Amino acid sequence: MNALTDRYGARGGPVQLFYLNNRTPRRPTVDRGEGIYLWDTQGKRYIDASSGPIAANLGHANARVIAASDRQIRKVAYASRAFFENDANIELAEIVTRLAGPGLERAFFVSGGSEATESAMKLARQYAMTLGQASRWKVLSRNPSYHGGTMGAIAISGDPVSEAAFGPMTRLMPKVPAPFTYRLPEDHTPESNAERCADALEETIIREGPETVLAFFMEPVGGLATGALVAADCYYRRVREICSRHGVLLIFDEVMSGAGRTGAFLAAHHWPDARPDMVTLAKGIGAGYTPLGAVLASRAMADALAEAGGFMHGFTYASNPLSCAIGHAVVSETVDRGLIPNAAAMGTRLRGRLEEVQKHSGVMGDIRGKGLLMAIEIVADKDTKAILPASTQAIQRIVELGMERGLLLYSRRTANGLFGEWLMVAPPLIVDAQQVDTIAALIGDTLAEFEKQLKGTA
Ligand SMILES: Cc1ncc(COP(=O)(O)O)c(C=O)c1O
Repeated sequence: MNALTDRYGARGGPVQLFYLNNRTPRRPTVDRGEGIYLWDTQGKRYIDASSGPIAANLGHANARVIAASDRQIRKVAYASRAFFENDANIELAEIVTRLAGPGLERAFFVSGGSEATESAMKLARQYAMTLGQASRWKVLSRNPSYHGGTMGAIAISGDPVSEAAFGPMTRLMPKVPAPFTYRLPEDHTPESNAERCADALEETIIREGPETVLAFFMEPVGGLATGALVAADCYYRRVREICSRHGVLLIFDEVMSGAGRTGAFLAAHHWPDARPDMVTLAKGIGAGYTPLGAVLASRAMADALAEAGGFMHGFTYASNPLSCAIGHAVVSETVDRGLIPNAAAMGTRLRGRLEEVQKHSGVMGDIRGKGLLMAIEIVADKDTKAILPASTQAIQRIVELGMERGLLLYSRRTANGLFGEWLMVAPPLIVDAQQVDTIAALIGDTLAEFEKQLKGTA
């Protein structure tokens, strides 16, 4: 029993009370972390197989990050941008923009992915105004998608459940279909579906009036909203052409896919003929050691804004020295330890091992993703690809069966299961071959138990 159980009851502690429904059992209390493992206060070990919510890219207790954090906090943890520049900010901007490559020479640091989304939308809008295009304000995005939990981010996130709850409080923006590759419209291949979805983007821009459309926001490799969706290659090139043709900024949300996770520093690097105008980053650049996010844009965009009076935007913690120093250590460690090629190699191995598991599983319908940003889709029937009913609570049950086996898999049933349901498999980038095999084996055990229970209750 947990010491807090007496105070808060067996269900819903001080954190969960506001977050999970009151039927959710108490979670264990975390004690410590090291490498890809976390331990609870009862001494049980868990493999952090999704890096929390795809954040802890370096695993836990990284010595270089701890030392950098300690150094900076002793020197100066915080000094307002109103009065000072700080070296940590400059050093982080230099390494991130160098790794991001041409066209993304400027970085603005914030405290997470949602702030990065808000900042990108405002930066795009202000830039359009400097070009004399104040009529452009609509930000298009995909259905489904997730770009954050703040009101502006909700306006562009394709999630009918969130829209129903919070839509009236914000200004919902137009959506276009996401180019799914597994469950396809009749008579479509992944490629033809990608073309169809690209066509829908262009049609929507034209219908809305191109002179009103500011930007198109998309996750180049999907996160939880699509279960690591990777579109057919033709999609990226088509989207770039369409945006260029109509003067629409292409913004890649790389909050999950950035910082090396897919086997390249940016997922954008996998499609060099579809370079985005702007990129958002978060999760992996702080790697769970500090709240950190970023918006990347071109030198020309930043200069235009500076000329016009500066970026009309900011947060108290934007570009703070402590977070930037930690981010610099995280990104340096990611590069110096060769973790980006490791993500590519371990991603290939993980896919192979999961394919083995899939052969013996009646519920693992699809495996998708890139590098170490992967997902497994859970179905009632692999032939029909039918989705399990909500009452099965498949995702919640699999997460809990995994935890019993010391395996942490991140997921929840997004969009009420409308598009399917899946679990993220995205271990820290430090994962080695043996650990990948262990993760796949534990997933196999977990799904086998789930299937057994499913048959028992069928
Ligand atoms: C693709 C994507 N964008 C934005 C966000 C929001 O980031 P944060 O939770 O740091 O605000 C997330 C978070 O999961 C995400 O996956």
